[in-house]
Amino acid sequence: DKGLAQSWTSKGRQYIGTALTIRDDSVEQGIIKSPTDFNSITPENAMKWESTEPSRNNFTFAGADAIIDFADKYKKEVRCHTLVWHSQLPAWVSEGNFDNKTLISIMENHIKNVAGRYKNKCTHWDVVNEALEEDGTYRNSVFYKTIGEAFIPISFRLAAKYAGSKTKLYYNDYNLEYGSAKALGAQRILKLVQSYGVQIDGVGLQAHLTSESTASSGGGVTPDTDTLTRVLRLYADLGVEVAYTELDVRFTTPVTKEKLKAQADAYARVTQSCINVKSCVGITIWGVSDKYSWIPGVFKTEGAALLWDEQFNKKPAYDSMLKRIQKF
Ligand code: G3I
Repeated sequence: DKGLAQSWTSKGRQYIGTALTIRDDSVEQGIIKSPTDFNSITPENAMKWESTEPSRNNFTFAGADAIIDFADKYKKEVRCHTLVWHSQLPAWVSEGNFDNKTLISIMENHIKNVAGRYKNKCTHWDVVNEALEEDGTYRNSVFYKTIGEAFIPISFRLAAKYAGSKTKLYYNDYNLEYGSAKALGAQRILKLVQSYGVQIDGVGLQAHLTSESTASSGGGVTPDTDTLTRVLRLYADLGVEVAYTELDVRFTTPVTKEKLKAQADAYARVTQSCINVKSCVGITIWGVSDKYSWIPGVFKTEGAALLWDEQFNKKPAYDSMLKRIQKF
């Protein structure tokens, strides 16, 4: 039977992806290598600033190169992640007290070396990641504090200069899925970059979601399909593509049958909303198995957010996602 990626691409859409950390687990890596479920990968950490330029103008590419080699070998697209982000940003940048001009030259040197090295190898770059607060105002990052909102169009202009003409350039953020102030903030960013006459090709919705009301979700469960569809259109209607870039749906563990069912329904809603919007090109799930996840490290009592359980059995969410794709 056809899997997720095979079914999705047979409907004319671009990719179903997963986050990739290269590690010694032949079962997990085998699922990623197979053409069945995933035809795209996103480096989970290897292309972030702390990994690629840990000290000024000292570039370290072993991890990122390994991801590109993996993609070449197993014929995967690569969503490259991420160029300008306040987190996993080495202290020499975040605490550097650079003036506006110097910080822009540091950004240019970083983007030139990282995006330039993988020129046209990335189908997409997350150029700017997580620039917004929950209320839709700008996050007070070193980039915003030093340069103001112009750091965003400047980042896109530099990415366009070095990433290669085959690469789509994205703004990427989380908690856009609810259609609230933050979602409108991302729309404002899209319009801002467009108003500078600079290339921006898409908005990525990370989609770190939950299937139950918990303190960590701010009380919000994965919205209904209509809300999700409406949010995708906020951006798609401005002429860019959209995608779910880091999907996972967590809940408080331990796992029960009911919780797996609620999770499967949430995955189906997300999948259906992407189906509903023609310029929704793909869905990347933020990992493969519940054995490996960033979630319990951040939300202590939560997890089990992915499509395969810790023993690599497919969960109900896998089946519900596949069924939606097959029906479309
Ligand atoms: O590499 C070190 C290792 O040397 C050390 O021994 C170990 C001990 O803690 O830490 C390792 O670094 C960890 C790194 O992942 C690589 O495994 C960091 O502690 C850990 O914080 C880091 O977490 C990553 C997180 O981003 C950091 O912000 C997750 O793997 C990654 O899934 C997560 O991904 C982000 C996206 O990039 C952006 N959107 C949100 C998403 C989830 O937080």
